[in-house]
Amino acid sequence: MRRLRTQVAIVGAGPSGLLLSHLLALRGIDSIVLEQRSRDYVEQRVRAGLLEQGTVDLLREAGLADRLDREGLVHEGFELRFDGSQHRLPFTELTGWTTCMYGQQEMVKDLIRAREAAGGQVHFSVDDVAPRDVATTCPRVRCTIAGDAVEIAADFIAGCDGFHGVCRQTIPAGAVTTYEHVYPFAWLGILAAVPPSTVELLYAVHERGFALHSMRSPAISRLYLQVAPAEPLADWPDHRIWAELRTRFALDGEEALNEGPILSRSVTEMRSFAMEPMQYGRLFLAGDAAHIVPPSAAKGLNLAAADVRVLAAALTVWYAEGRPDLLEGYSRVCLAAMWQGQEFSAVMTSLLHRFPDEDRYAVKLRQARLRDLVTSRAAATAFAEQYVGLARTRLTGAAGAALSARPAQR
Ligand code: APR
Ligand code: PHB
Repeated sequence: MRRLRTQVAIVGAGPSGLLLSHLLALRGIDSIVLEQRSRDYVEQRVRAGLLEQGTVDLLREAGLADRLDREGLVHEGFELRFDGSQHRLPFTELTGWTTCMYGQQEMVKDLIRAREAAGGQVHFSVDDVAPRDVATTCPRVRCTIAGDAVEIAADFIAGCDGFHGVCRQTIPAGAVTTYEHVYPFAWLGILAAVPPSTVELLYAVHERGFALHSMRSPAISRLYLQVAPAEPLADWPDHRIWAELRTRFALDGEEALNEGPILSRSVTEMRSFAMEPMQYGRLFLAGDAAHIVPPSAAKGLNLAAADVRVLAAALTVWYAEGRPDLLEGYSRVCLAAMWQGQEFSAVMTSLLHRFPDEDRYAVKLRQARLRDLVTSRAAATAFAEQYVGLARTRLTGAAGAALSARPAQR
């Protein structure tokens, strides 16, 4: 067995694990990242794409935003269609904050290159990852790297291994409380090689179900359709996807949509999951490993970045000053932000989707809520503050400051 030693062993090379490794390296803290998939797989995996301004600022401060600043599409509002009419929610006018469209896999590519350039240790295609002794001061990770059995001794283990990872499973059941909610619908998402038909994101609430027109670049569109859970992709040939999108985006008859080759397609379940606390002994969970939200409000990636920011700051204080208080408070700080993100994701999910068992009364209530959003500046501002991530910065004084790169605005 090969034996290695590092300060922080990080399981998972998604956005959480890679960003944590990078932020720690900036503060002189050594880490080893262990990823079960190949580099190619993690770089090509199509996921989220909306970065809040606070997330962009964090990446910029960490020297990770050169390409993001060149290629990211900065947005100042979105379009909302319901009940046969179109409205704009000007979130930047209401909050001062923007969002940025930049594919998660592009962010992952940038992070991997940055770790590579700095001589960071990121191992791909690692098998049998098993955290050990996490309740002691000498935690270890066993794994298989290129066919060799390896044991990594560390001061801390960061579980950044997503919803299906192993780290959460190593925590004894009685030590955490979990919360879960599954929605009775899913999203069919496509990435298409076609210029977006809209400049800003377009959220369409339709009697046949929700549809979203998003984008990744001036040449790549990202579109979503609400479908039944576990909908077979085989039932959705290209022409049916485009026809359904046209119908749901239509204001008057059929909408003209730019159509092009579909590069990838997948069905995403709509689920919420949370656990309290997000740490056990020397194991700290971050991002999807600790919580997931339905994709409606695009909060998953931004909450992951918020966790990692807090964890990196807490580890820095521990190594620099020997103070454990920030590490001890890690869950408390992250959970406040996480529950705010859960709540807004649930609000946006219920505002946009048709529920299979709902009655006509529920439909009318949703329309009233939507109308309020586009006619009341107070309602629109409260919504926009959540949407752009500004609300998160106001949570709790100093703890809030650790959650976002930008100071609270009022
Ligand atoms: N061993 C090693 N790596 C693992 C293991 C394991 N047993 N299990 C999972 N992984 C890896 C996955 O292959 C993946 O690359 O951990 C990584 C987790 O990455 P993500 O699932 O992307 O989670 P995270 O980094 O927290 O990113 C936040 O925000 O928008 C959402 O879901 C979206 O992925 C995004 C998330
Ligand atoms: C996306 O582009 O993937 C996206 C954008 C906005 C959302 C959800 C998903 O609200």
